[in-house]
Amino acid sequence: MSRIKNKRTKVINPNASSDSYEAKQPTIDLGVQCYDKSSYFDQKSMQAEWHKIWSRSWLLAGVVSDLRDVGDYFLFEILDESIIVTLTKEGIKAFYNVCSHRGAILVDEPRGNQKVFVCPFHNWTFRNTGDLIRITDEDTFDPRIVGHRPGLVGVECEIYAGIIFINLQDNPSPLKEEIGLPEGYLETYRIDKMNVVRHVVSEWGSNWKVGVEAFYESYHLHAVHPETKGVMGDLNVQYDLYPFGASRMIVPLGQPSPRVHDQKTVSEGLQFMLSEAGIDPSTFKGEAADVRGAIQKAKRQYAAAKGLDYSGFEDGQLSDSWATGIFPNVQIGCHPEGVFIMRFVPHPFEPERFYYDTMTMFMPSDDAANAPLWMGLPEGTDISGRVRPPTEYYDIDQDPNLGLVLSQDAAFLPKVQRGMRSKGFVGQLWGEQEQRLRHFHVELNRRLQIA
Ligand code: FES
Ligand SMILES: [Fe+2]
Repeated sequence: MSRIKNKRTKVINPNASSDSYEAKQPTIDLGVQCYDKSSYFDQKSMQAEWHKIWSRSWLLAGVVSDLRDVGDYFLFEILDESIIVTLTKEGIKAFYNVCSHRGAILVDEPRGNQKVFVCPFHNWTFRNTGDLIRITDEDTFDPRIVGHRPGLVGVECEIYAGIIFINLQDNPSPLKEEIGLPEGYLETYRIDKMNVVRHVVSEWGSNWKVGVEAFYESYHLHAVHPETKGVMGDLNVQYDLYPFGASRMIVPLGQPSPRVHDQKTVSEGLQFMLSEAGIDPSTFKGEAADVRGAIQKAKRQYAAAKGLDYSGFEDGQLSDSWATGIFPNVQIGCHPEGVFIMRFVPHPFEPERFYYDTMTMFMPSDDAANAPLWMGLPEGTDISGRVRPPTEYYDIDQDPNLGLVLSQDAAFLPKVQRGMRSKGFVGQLWGEQEQRLRHFHVELNRRLQIA
């Protein structure tokens, strides 16, 4: 083991009790292996990932609050498969979006309300519980062919903390055993009570793993997103590794980066954050280092007035970003007011592209001021939760329309992808600030080895 191991490992709150979600997790020695870079480019690796990862893992398909009335459904697409996730009289169920007659895709619209699905090819009809209810000209079919009433084929589906996961494997291990996060961790945020207020899917020019990796570390912030230096403690980040590839980083917000020389002046960015928390920056007496604590205190004070319940949250959760990763392709930016659910979805046939799929969710509110500006919602976004906005799609040559920081990432990642292709690049070399990346690859590799 290296002597300098974890020299810079930070702990956000040294006083956090060991059973608190804030507690620093024990360090794991994940070795120093350099992984084969070919999985970022070739079709063979893509196939292996399909068989060993996407076909076998619990995948985040959507959120419970998107299925409000019986008949509500949305499609979840993963590589070549399309899955219908729908609310039935018996609860939420998932099915392959495929007609049992001759295999036509049943539904094209990405979301809607249908209690029955009528196949567009010959009009066989299915209830949203999957039951086959009508065969056109049934008397022309030999009962030995259709007597078993072939309905829609079900997909394993579980609800966890307001989120819907599916698994394409038959009889997978229960989600609870594979998700890796401590029990209650995600539940604290009451995502089941939140609504999607914006949903953007944009196509990016790199392998999906390059996307996961960029969002699993804060090491690149100073270089790619220099404007974050005034307000994000990028070197004070606490990295935590959980079982089964899950991980978390706590990025302290409301403090200057330790890379900045001036640690005293309350910069423009910090002033902005103070005013967001209802503190007048012109009368604020403290220095830069006092801002984060002042925000926490102010939020506790105004919570009741705004109808927000912060009682189950640590002080740090009120100010910081708890970016929480779930294997294989999810990161949730957790905040008491709302969450960002991000998915890094592989392109169906092009290993050097992926879809960055992000849902912004909020506690229902009629007060637009409850949506912090830093969450990056376009002006006038309805956060009441009454209407589920349509998903916005952006092609690879379009800006994802998600604000400066994400535009910087979208523009930069193709350069990583291209450079990694070069004969001059051997494989990734990760430091401590990239321990979540190594943890992710250890789990990826473990699953790829399973027969
Ligand atoms: S393929 Fe669906 S009714 Fe024929
Ligand atoms: Fe970034």
